[in-house]
Parts: sequence; C-alpha cells; structure tokens
Amino acid sequence: MAHKEPENLIKMRKNIVAGNWKMNTTVEEGVELASEVNDLLKGKKANCEVVVCVPFTHLVPVHGVIDEGVMGLGAENCSEHDKGAYTGEVSASMVKSTGASHVILGHSERRQYFGENNAQLLAKTKQALANGLTPIFCVGEVLEERENGSYNDVVKGQVEALFELSPEDFSKIIIAYEPVWAIGTGKTATADQAQDMHAHIRKVIEDKYGKEIADNTSILYGGSCKPSNAKELFAKPDVDGGLIGGAALKADSFMGIIEAFD
Ligand code: PGA
Repeated sequence: MAHKEPENLIKMRKNIVAGNWKMNTTVEEGVELASEVNDLLKGKKANCEVVVCVPFTHLVPVHGVIDEGVMGLGAENCSEHDKGAYTGEVSASMVKSTGASHVILGHSERRQYFGENNAQLLAKTKQALANGLTPIFCVGEVLEERENGSYNDVVKGQVEALFELSPEDFSKIIIAYEPVWAIGTGKTATADQAQDMHAHIRKVIEDKYGKEIADNTSILYGGSCKPSNAKELFAKPDVDGGLIGGAALKADSFMGIIEAFD
C-alpha cells in the first residue's frame, strides 16, 4: 500500500468554474464569447478547471474555437433515452460526438419548468456516464424549503436519487448546489450557508460511498455568483468552485470569477 498523505494536507478534488449560458446568445454571439474567454485563458493559466455549458446548437461551433486543455465544453441537458423516435430530443452520444465533455443535469429550471423528476435524472445521468460525459448534477431547495427548514432533507433526497450508481460511476460526478431562491435573483447564499450545505452534501455522499469518494467529489456553488462574491464563497473548504449563469455571459465577469482562485 502506498504511503498516505496526512488528511487535509492536499485537496485532491478539482476546483472548477463552469458557465451555464442557458437559452442565451445566437451562435455567432456564443462563438465570439467562447473565443474571447479562450483567448483570455490562454494568456493566463487559470488555477481551476474552466468549462462552458452552451445550448445544443452552439456545441459544434464553440468546440471549433476553443483549445483543448484551456477550457472544456458542456451541454445543458441530454435525453434519458439512448436513441430513436424521440422527436426534438438530443442524446448523450450526440452531445459527446460534438466534442463536449460535460453535461449539466437536473438544473432547477429543468426540474421546475419541464417537470424532470428523480427517476428521469438518474436515467439521464446513466446515459451521460455511459457515453463518457461528466455530469454536473444540480441540486438545491426552493425558498419555501429554505424558510421552513426542510432544505437539508430536500437536498439529501436529490443527491440520493443517484445512489443506484456504482461507486466508480458516482466518483465521476460533479455536484452543483444551487439554492433556487438565489438563481438569477441577485440574492446569493452567504458563504456560510453555502459551506454548511456543501459539508452536508459531502457527508451524505460519505455515508453512502465512503470518505475517499466524498472527499474527491467537487461540489460547486451556483446562484448569483459574481466576481464580487466568488472569492469569499470559494474560500470555504467545501466549496470547490461555481456554476455561473448570468455572469458567464460576459467574458470579463466570467474571468473575474475564475480569477477568484488566483
Ligand atoms: P445565476 O444562475 O448565476 O444567473 O444565478 C446560476 C445557474 O442557474 O446555473
């Protein structure tokens, strides 16, 4: 058995800043934004992994203007089905074939507006993993659940939806904690609220998969994250980066958040 480092000396899990463009930008605008970010990142070595998750229509052209090793590319969703008669759907293998490496799954907007449930999200996660994509799996409570105190249980239930996965598969997942009341509202969770929830999520994972997998899982914070609050959030021990909506739509604010790791 190899020598083990004393605990907490080395953080094995990755720090990640991922953009979620949602339903914004034309292809032309998206390509311009991605090249701008790519150029800025080439000029300076980021201290975290950077990924942009873009609309399906943008995957191929954006892949064409970003450099491997500089930033990764992801989709914002994929089908829970493999292939076939599902008009309008996009499969995980199609996403993979664009050159993408990641896919956001279970974003609260998908859960809320498109009725995605735990069973579907597990199926989507399995599709993503089977096709070599890294899921960025989103969890988070709504305002009412924050106010009535059920938020820890709600988020635990959302994470547990994945517990059918083998330890090997689960260890490939990135979790994003996004309190729904903080998304696009300008209302950020405090750094302490984020830390408490991230530590809770890590404990839920540890209870099922053990300490090593829990310690190696990157847990990102999302919800009105911006350059002015990113540093304080990312300084928390269990906050391993962010999933960024609005602030990812401008190269300078996205870079400002990436630089919070400098
Ligand atoms: P926001 O969105 O940064 O605009 O709040 C985050 C997200 O929904 O992923």
